[in-house]
Amino acid sequence: MVRVGTMAAVVLVLLGTACEYGRQELDRPDNHSPSRYVWPLPEGFPAPRVPPDNPMTTEKVELGRHLFHDPRLSGDGTVSCASCHQPELAYTDGRSRAVGSQGNIHPRSAMSLTNVAYNATLGWDDPSLIRLEDQALVPLFNTQPLEMGVAGRENVVLVRFRGHRRYRQLFFKAFPEDKDPVTMRNVIYALASFERTLISGNSPYDRWAYGGEVDALNPDERAGARLFFSRRVNCFRCHAGFNFSGPVVYEGSGVSKPQFHNTGLYNEDRRGAYPKPNTGVHRHSGRSEDMGKFRAPTLRNIALTAPYMHDGSVATLEAVLDHYAAGGRARSFGLDTRAIGPGSATDPLITGFELTPEERRQMVAFLRALTDESFVRRARQ
Ligand code: HEC
Ligand code: HEC
Repeated sequence: MVRVGTMAAVVLVLLGTACEYGRQELDRPDNHSPSRYVWPLPEGFPAPRVPPDNPMTTEKVELGRHLFHDPRLSGDGTVSCASCHQPELAYTDGRSRAVGSQGNIHPRSAMSLTNVAYNATLGWDDPSLIRLEDQALVPLFNTQPLEMGVAGRENVVLVRFRGHRRYRQLFFKAFPEDKDPVTMRNVIYALASFERTLISGNSPYDRWAYGGEVDALNPDERAGARLFFSRRVNCFRCHAGFNFSGPVVYEGSGVSKPQFHNTGLYNEDRRGAYPKPNTGVHRHSGRSEDMGKFRAPTLRNIALTAPYMHDGSVATLEAVLDHYAAGGRARSFGLDTRAIGPGSATDPLITGFELTPEERRQMVAFLRALTDESFVRRARQ
């Protein structure tokens, strides 16, 4: 009896593999109208803008969450989105430069995905990348540098999910209208939906500023906040608004003009050149005035995302402050300062300032108070 049972099971498994399509029909869940996703928005946060062709549903988000963390989504099955965007590091990887599926080194640092739904442009320096649906193609299909190595292996990857019972159900629930929902387009749309849910706004600073908790910040952190928002130190001019970042878009917002700044990190040629290939917007436009211009990333969860800057060349928050205090680190290399001071490639807001050791400590304390522990805890679950 046991034997027959085992045989039958083997035959069923074989049949199942052979009749992929038949089984998909069987797996289709009965009740499959997707439910509208409800944003758990923090106080003071607008609703993210969602493209009309990819409305948010809990089912799509759920599928996207699985895909984001699954190395089967890479060509050789070794790297997931989460390898470079680790939830416990606010979706970064702790490296100065990211490492792709064949061990290749990306020229730039993996960016935090904290509140990524709001960014007016995506990536360190690309003015034309504005939809998460388009951005996901970059790591999946890029060959220079290779990140997930899916190009030319699309079917290998899709067959892995088609052959997986749980995934077939997730795909069917997320895209109930599709006959064969296991497609690259749907992978990308589900990933984008998941990414839009990565909203973080419950730091001690938020509880102090919006939640009426007067003790959520200690006196040092409050003093640091005052410096951050002061005209002397000017951080808030570029790391602005509820997201402490460059321009944002959200439901009902107007079109946001992309902004990029040269903060004076490099001066290769005494005229403010940045080392190739990381020349910022210049890399895309070829225009000399775009040399070294990058997007101001969010400072939320910044204590979790070291090392800093597009190439991870600044190790600590203290060193970040020293860079800005010097009016751009390149200036302190002792080179021709006229070339990188006001009126040069370096942004006019990068003027330099002096901080006492106590003020420097207070500013770091404030930046650390932008950490949202509940965001990281939620992500770990
Ligand atoms: C090999 C490491 C690596 C992998 C794997 C990876 N990323 Fe990234 N990610 C990066 C790097 C590096 C950047 C910055 C790229 C740039 O602008 O130069 C980035 C940037 C991003 C951004 C832009 C964030 C912002 O604030 O503008 C998003 C969104 C993103 N990745 C999503 C994903 C998704 C989704 C996946 C999986 C399909 C993924 N990444 C896989 C390294 C990686
Ligand atoms: C002129 C606009 C501007 C001002 C003013 C400014 N920043 Fe930035 N910030 C940027 C840009 C642009 C980047 C990315 C630069 C790069 O990678 O080359 C950045 C990067 C950072 C980073 C690293 C982010 C990451 O994810 O790696 C930190 C931290 C930071 N800034 C903090 C501050 C603080 C603190 C101040 C005030 C002392 C400040 N910034 C003032 C534009 C600005």
